[in-house]
Amino acid sequence: MREDTQLFGLIERELGRQQTTLQLIASENFTSRAVMAATGSVLTNKYSEGYPGKRYYGGNQVVDEVEDIARRRACELFGAEHANVQPHSGSNANLAVYLATLDAGDTVLGLRLDQGGHLTHGSPVNVSGRLYHFVSYGVTGSDERIDLEELARLAEEHRPKLVVAGATAYPRIIDPAPIRAIADSVGALFLFDAAHIAGLIAGGVHPNPTGVADVVTLTTHKTLRGPRGGCILCRAELAPAIDKAVFPGLQGGPLDHVTAAKAVAFHEALQPEFSRYAAQVVRNARALAAALAAHGLRIVSGGTDTHLLLVDLRAFGAELTGKKAQESLDRAGITCNKNTIPGDPRSPFVTSGLRLGTPAVTTAGMQEPEMEQIAELIARVLRRPDDEAELAAVGDRVAALCSKFTPYP
Ligand SMILES: Cc1ncc(COP(=O)(O)O)c(C=O)c1O
Repeated sequence: MREDTQLFGLIERELGRQQTTLQLIASENFTSRAVMAATGSVLTNKYSEGYPGKRYYGGNQVVDEVEDIARRRACELFGAEHANVQPHSGSNANLAVYLATLDAGDTVLGLRLDQGGHLTHGSPVNVSGRLYHFVSYGVTGSDERIDLEELARLAEEHRPKLVVAGATAYPRIIDPAPIRAIADSVGALFLFDAAHIAGLIAGGVHPNPTGVADVVTLTTHKTLRGPRGGCILCRAELAPAIDKAVFPGLQGGPLDHVTAAKAVAFHEALQPEFSRYAAQVVRNARALAAALAAHGLRIVSGGTDTHLLLVDLRAFGAELTGKKAQESLDRAGITCNKNTIPGDPRSPFVTSGLRLGTPAVTTAGMQEPEMEQIAELIARVLRRPDDEAELAAVGDRVAALCSKFTPYP
């Protein structure tokens, strides 16, 4: 057969992009070669609907062992009684929890989407918002942290069946204990969506919601640095309902090659180096936030406790939207995403903010001095977003920096 140079040429180009530009998207990372080897293995050939020991097809002796190892390692890493490692994504993991615990029309509390919540926390364009009655809580106007008083008031008023915590764009620690107390006060179940911060929890730099929340969902590809996918952790008594919701409720055959890669990632996250990595991710985010603030940008909530920060661009002029900033930064080789900020007057397609994250650059080996350089380069672009010569000059500095920190040398 003729070699598919067209497609593999594209993969080479994407490798080049990842090696030579700055990856500051908070939900991205660089997996190890071992994770990629498992993802690219013969396990992709197998069908294994069901669970270890209870499959619909034959030939699953090896796959059963793979899935068992992945489940055991997930439980060990997070201190869980049960893990389901089959969700194809974080979205599927959340939907499976809803399917297991709710009936259509039931009331759920979740974080407002324009203040950091995820699409699967009740967006009207997502199946979560179409099937269930989501009521949203937000952050305070003063310190821009989750408003626990509002959460308690809404719980009392709406008597939800489920309270969802967790976020896609929230820079502060989310303490599961007070949310557990609020859920208990109205007899609600508690789901902690740890998609973004799973690696920080695994590395011991964010409180672990496992055992506090009834169910924890995660993605394996963000701070956890594994393959793209989801995972659900729960108490043993909820395990049958959760497993049934994932399969046959929501999915068909599991992605066994991805399950294997999840097992590899859990193994890597169990090593002491991973805790050092997670701590450096947070130190880098703090250094980046402080350096950007020194350049005159406002950081939402005044800083960060996690891997991400939200930048309020309004201090740099009424014309500078998140969309414009993202595009100009992209032209200078700095990859990040526009994001709404609390109270944002602009739409999610335009926005007044940027979300920046440090998981990928930290994996590449960068530390605080590099964060100061990155902040300076970002500030240069944001001051003159239409000046192509300036963008090219910044691009050269970005390429020089990346040449010293290539993720896949
Ligand atoms: C909080 C949260 N939950 C769920 C998801 C969904 O993950 P996936 O993109 O794998 O479906 C994300 C992804 O950004 C997220 O941030």
